[in-house]
Amino acid sequence: MEYQTWYTRYYISTESIRKRGFFMRNIYQEADRLHDVKFSAIRVVLEKANEMAAAGRKIIHLEIGEPDFSTPGDIINATSVALVEKKLTHYPPNRGVMELRKQIAKFMHDIYKVDYNPADEIMVAVGAVEAIFAAILGHINPGDEVIVLTPAYANYENCINMAGGKCVKVALKEEAGYQIIREDIEAAITDRTKMLVVCNPNNPTGAVLTQESQQKIADIANEHDLIVLTDEIYSLLRYDGSEIRSLASFGGMRERTIVVNGFSKCFAMTGWRLGYVACDKRFYSSMLKIHQYATNCVSTFSQAGLAEAMFSEGTKRESAEMVKKFNARRIAAMEILDKCSKLSYVKPDGAFYIFINVSRTGLSGSEFAMRLLEEKGVAAVPGDPFGPGCDKYIRLAYSRDIETIKEGCRAIVDFAESAGKK
Ligand SMILES: Cc1ncc(COP(=O)(O)O)c(C=O)c1O
Repeated sequence: MEYQTWYTRYYISTESIRKRGFFMRNIYQEADRLHDVKFSAIRVVLEKANEMAAAGRKIIHLEIGEPDFSTPGDIINATSVALVEKKLTHYPPNRGVMELRKQIAKFMHDIYKVDYNPADEIMVAVGAVEAIFAAILGHINPGDEVIVLTPAYANYENCINMAGGKCVKVALKEEAGYQIIREDIEAAITDRTKMLVVCNPNNPTGAVLTQESQQKIADIANEHDLIVLTDEIYSLLRYDGSEIRSLASFGGMRERTIVVNGFSKCFAMTGWRLGYVACDKRFYSSMLKIHQYATNCVSTFSQAGLAEAMFSEGTKRESAEMVKKFNARRIAAMEILDKCSKLSYVKPDGAFYIFINVSRTGLSGSEFAMRLLEEKGVAAVPGDPFGPGCDKYIRLAYSRDIETIKEGCRAIVDFAESAGKK
């Protein structure tokens, strides 16, 4: 003790008090940046539905936004060759296997008529989820405002909150067919607004923005110097026959748009975790930094397999078949729902969702969804997590086989007809 200074004596005594529990830190306390980050509400319904199924109840799953099809055979076979024969089991480049980046650049050119350099303008990510995370965390500072057009996929808000940004929601209206009302967006812009987030076709509404609406977004972004994050993951799932356009293809937009896309929905590859970002190279390094330290990259053999078979005849045929089946399911669901005067929705021209307004039943979306699950065994998602005013909706996903969809929709109609009477 004689060698100790007053400071080390003080330190030793406070340390021993701390160890005995007086100043205990809570090592389990989450970091401050997570305070406004919430778990997905979809999982809550799914868990309850799974619990009921485990107890022997038949459940019709219309809550999950996941295609029930298998990944196209050519992609599976090419991936299996890449793994078993070519033994591509080592690290790929962080930004993704070059051959896949080239194929993605070709896809962006062929379908959307926008050119990107595969070397430094395309980044392969762990699903569109990681692409969204990298785009937001890579560009949003604490206090920056980000406009999110709602109803919207909850990931945008949670990533904005994680970045310390402020999520400013601008509601697209059912009565306007979820199209853009320029004044509503402009009223939300301040000198702190840095980014605008849009999802087209939309989850949860299935609405597709008209070219006129897309042009309005482009005009606003150009005039107010905003970054636009456009989530186009459902862009190939379209049923209205109109031309598919990326926001990046509008005048002045390529240099201010970060396009997020992926293969989960259009090629039924949810479990592969393959998505990407396409953007002007000035946005690139910030996202690459996040990607490098968060995930490094997607597995080499799955990228190689996808690159090999992305444009094969078999892949094109199978993905076209999926779109046809989704469309048949959409029509079957609408035919049944249209019989019920207590339900309304905007005709969905894309994705695989119907966002149903249940307010005329006298129930909120979450009461409707919970009772529908308990009384009819049909799982659908309550609208609240998708944005302000969405608490009078439920979201139905028509990504199951057609007979299941019909059975589920009949049960929804039965329930809606009887609900108000109780
Ligand atoms: C709008 C939207 N973006 C992104 C994703 C996630 O896609 P991925 O599986 O590529 O991460 C989803 C999944 O439901 C989605 O609905």
